[in-house]
Amino acid sequence: MSARRDGANRSSRIAGFHRRSPAERLDLVAAFAGLDDAEVAHLADMGNLPVVLADHMIENVVATMNVPIGIATNLKIDGEDVLVPMATEESSVVAAVCNAGRQSYDGGFTTSVSGTLMIAQVQAVDVPDPHAARLRLLERRDDIKAICDACDPLLLKIGGGFRDLEVRILDTAGGAMLVTHLIVDTRDAMGANAVNTMAEAVAPRIAEWSGGRVFLRILSNLADRRLARARAVWTTDAIGGAGVRDGIVSAYHFAEADPYRAATHNKGIMNGISAVVLATGNDTRAVEAGAHAYAARNGRYASLTHYEIDAGGNLCGSIELPLAVGLIGGATKIHPTAQACLKILGVSTAERLARIVAAVGLAQNFSALKALATTGIQAGHMGLHAQNVAMMAGAIGEEIDAVARRLVEQKAVRIDVAQAILADLRR
Ligand code: MEV
Repeated sequence: MSARRDGANRSSRIAGFHRRSPAERLDLVAAFAGLDDAEVAHLADMGNLPVVLADHMIENVVATMNVPIGIATNLKIDGEDVLVPMATEESSVVAAVCNAGRQSYDGGFTTSVSGTLMIAQVQAVDVPDPHAARLRLLERRDDIKAICDACDPLLLKIGGGFRDLEVRILDTAGGAMLVTHLIVDTRDAMGANAVNTMAEAVAPRIAEWSGGRVFLRILSNLADRRLARARAVWTTDAIGGAGVRDGIVSAYHFAEADPYRAATHNKGIMNGISAVVLATGNDTRAVEAGAHAYAARNGRYASLTHYEIDAGGNLCGSIELPLAVGLIGGATKIHPTAQACLKILGVSTAERLARIVAAVGLAQNFSALKALATTGIQAGHMGLHAQNVAMMAGAIGEEIDAVARRLVEQKAVRIDVAQAILADLRR
């Protein structure tokens, strides 16, 4: 099948698109968008993700998006040296973690978790007697446990399953709502499928026992029963003196006091966290939603990290956030790159993965604050940014470094300058 590629057919109503092969879909898209042969050939190259796999991961697949994976070095986590794969499109992110690890290598990072419990919510409305209904549901704890555990015998086999029940009465614009929380240990699974299945299975009984109508049955991404924690100590000598240390603490105070700053501060943390989450095939959006909701748990959005000065004058950094990551479901299991990244990390439990991810988040934040409180962020960014600009200007091969060097020397990392340098080089 080959459609005309002149962009003349601009209808998005493409009958049976989902039933086509990726190559056929790409042909149709090329016709819609007027893609040329080079663009089609580029998109058709699926890299190291087999087409069949990609086609079964999501719907309507036509291509893959490659993002570089860099390795963060210098990290010692709970006494063990770790190499951490990070998938990110942003320059300086990997280097920041390497730098933070080098400066805290002697003591390394110490980590822990609160557990591997996920929460599923079942929403019941129009409950005539919410307070009494709440107790009726709590009295059914054993029945609810039995229904939930029957959903996933495999989870039970690996030591997981239903753990607890909470029933909350929410005062909403639509009246009182009875919200049941199923608290489930999902062990090495991220657990979304497991808890969603349980919530759906138990919902008819909740409607019956509460006397209300059930609508939503879905996990909460505010996984505050699945917190990961990491801390590290940086000596003043290792980080360049008391002035640098105080600048970092002040940057932290700024983020604690101001949501405008906290959003950027936490974005930097997520630069590190999302990169490891993505490299391991985990759900970046689930982790991001949980992190930001947790940052606002006290009613005002604040920092996910804390910095203090200990009795010896050292800088103590710490982080705590929900980290719902797994090893045995979805892309983590089937994506060959995710599998290789997990092997590089040497993790055999979701708990260990979460601990490493938390340490990376702290490392990322330390380096960002250090740069911001001293030389500024641009100096570190410029080297790689200059290379990107050189490539945008058309530099290839050895030209990229040569153009980038001159951009940095001239302190003008701009595409017009890069084009002029490139023209000069080629003359
Ligand atoms: C940039 O991606 C991240 C930073 O803005 C984080 C921060 O400001 O703390 C540098």
